[in-house]
Amino acid sequence: MNDMRLTERGVETKQIKMKARGVEVFYGDTHAIKSVDVDIEDHTVTAFIGPSGCGKSTFLRCLNRMNDTIDICRVTGDIHLDGEDIYDPRIDPVQLRAKVGMVFQKPNPFPKSIYDNVAYGPKIHGLARTKAELDEIVEKSLRRAAIWNEVKDRLDAPGTGLSGGQQQRLCIARAVATGPEVLLMDEPCSALDPIATAQVEELIDELRQSYSVVIVTHSMQQAARVSQKTAFFHLGTLVEFGETSKIFTNPEDPRTESYITGRIG
Ligand SMILES: Nc1ncnc2c1ncn2[C@@H]1O[C@H](COP(=O)(O)OP(=O)(O)OP(=O)(O)O)[C@@H](O)[C@H]1O
Ligand SMILES: [Mg+2]
Repeated sequence: MNDMRLTERGVETKQIKMKARGVEVFYGDTHAIKSVDVDIEDHTVTAFIGPSGCGKSTFLRCLNRMNDTIDICRVTGDIHLDGEDIYDPRIDPVQLRAKVGMVFQKPNPFPKSIYDNVAYGPKIHGLARTKAELDEIVEKSLRRAAIWNEVKDRLDAPGTGLSGGQQQRLCIARAVATGPEVLLMDEPCSALDPIATAQVEELIDELRQSYSVVIVTHSMQQAARVSQKTAFFHLGTLVEFGETSKIFTNPEDPRTESYITGRIG
């Protein structure tokens, strides 16, 4: 597998970070995801779009085995991270989720201090040997999430006492703190106002330098602004996947066109 490289002409070749093939998901008898193949590139923001109930969140949760926590949910097919099968019985889902982090729709800080929200993951994964190292991880993660300046004087205050937009950035800091390689975000801005949304979008673009980011969004504008690749889901199938600019200007499938022009969904 190639590393991302710049050729002489400056053309980027991106590494495939995650590869999904023939993924099917069932909730009991409900067939929620039907034979989905997709490649998630490194250093790329991939947007998942599509009408409510089409399976975006379900498929996103397959990528870090979050569906394991839902009793009636059954996932089949292959999903690889850097060539390694993430559903292999030898893979520890907790370790996997440190590498493939997740940010949810509703900011969900732990009922702990701002510091402890970020320090928790590195602590349980043994990423810091000393308090000084832990302090450093916490500061770096809060800086990455563009919230350090707002919280540096109140690290002992509860995370739940922050504004919604700050809480979401705290949750991003928490996800970043375990040194992930992929960040999954399920409608991360839906509870935020336009200013906080703009901050998180800017952050997503920055995070792409270090990670591969997958974002579920209901906002076409957001998908167009933040992503380079877009996947359009409809009734559990992946209808179309490609360059965001192409999906939004010249989609191949009439269902994609109907959705982006507001005729379905
Ligand atoms: N925990 C669950 N138990 C049973 N069925 C579920 C569960 N979660 C999702 N489903 C079903 O799976 C299908 C896909 O749901 P999913 O939440 O993935 O859609 P979505 O595209 O994320 O929708 P939205 O845009 O509304 O968030 C739907 O039919 C839904 O009812
Ligand atoms: Mg959803």
